[in-house]
Amino acid sequence: MKGTQLHCLCMILLHLLHTAGSERFEVLGPTDLIVTVAGDDIILPCYLKPNISAEDMTVDWLNLDFLDSRVYRYQNHRVIRDDQIPSYRGRTSLFEKELWRGNTSLKLTRVQGTDEGRYKCFIKAKSWYDDFTIQVLVKAVGSKLVVSIEGHREGGMGLLCESEGWHPEPELVWLDSEGVHLSAGPPETHRDFKGFYTVKLHVIVQETDTNRFTCRVQQSRINEKMETEVHLPSELFHHTSPLRMAFIVLCCLGAVTVIGLSLAIYCIRNKKGVIIDQLKRQRYDLKKEKGKYCLQIITLLTLC
Ligand SMILES: *[C@@H]1O[C@H](CO)[C@@H](O)[C@H](O)[C@H]1NC(C)=O
Ligand SMILES: *[C@@H]1O[C@H](CO)[C@@H](O)[C@H](O)[C@H]1NC(C)=O
Repeated sequence: MKGTQLHCLCMILLHLLHTAGSERFEVLGPTDLIVTVAGDDIILPCYLKPNISAEDMTVDWLNLDFLDSRVYRYQNHRVIRDDQIPSYRGRTSLFEKELWRGNTSLKLTRVQGTDEGRYKCFIKAKSWYDDFTIQVLVKAVGSKLVVSIEGHREGGMGLLCESEGWHPEPELVWLDSEGVHLSAGPPETHRDFKGFYTVKLHVIVQETDTNRFTCRVQQSRINEKMETEVHLPSELFHHTSPLRMAFIVLCCLGAVTVIGLSLAIYCIRNKKGVIIDQLKRQRYDLKKEKGKYCLQIITLLTLC
């Protein structure tokens, strides 16, 4: 009797040892930083060694840079969508047909700025677990620099430089024609809900020999740099007197008249063609529109 009990116990112990042993695995992935470009689809690699099946395990993907870090969970053969970070909704999946060979890589589509971070691939079996952490950098080069002239400011000329759609956050500087940094206001940074940065920088410049100023945006981590130069006519720096203003207004009016007249001539020449076109096609098309505008311009001119 005792013998069989002992035998039984031994069998159970052996069985436990065996199952524990057979479930022992390592979780592996890339040790290098993964650099991705915003908008791309990427795979975050993660797999079991030995390559046993993960179909009956729990696979968790976490972004450690979030407080509630759940990116994805696979458990009891199902995807669990509760507690998922909202910005990942609809953009994550496992390769479920690859799970049986221990491939637990995560597919992430339409990468955005908020996706940057440290990702933990955490895999748990009944009596064993392991994890691996990978680092993802999201790269987005922003829009061309836009410079606007804001007018007279505190004895100089106010300029504004801006660029949008960057990741990581870039640095913006104003330089004079010799490449010397100009002291500018505090940079204004805005981060949109996808994690992309818009940056703006105001500066007040004084008249110089060249009146050339450069705005530069750079992000050294992704090795990107853009510049744009503005040239301000020196008249801009001088306050305009009323007389001067009147002169400028007259000049503008003159220019408008010349443009109007040339337009009218162009229209009259074109009108013939338009009428023939109309007769030919009997269809509403662009040229008809043009003809209408021309007639309006001519009426306006005659009214004048
Ligand atoms: C698992 O790994 C072994 C050796 O590394 C390889 O020969 C085998 O094809 C792999 N099995 C699967 C299903 O990928
Ligand atoms: C896992 O599966 C995906 C999709 O087939 C493949 O691209 C990736 O290379 C696989 N990873 C490993 C480690 O086998």
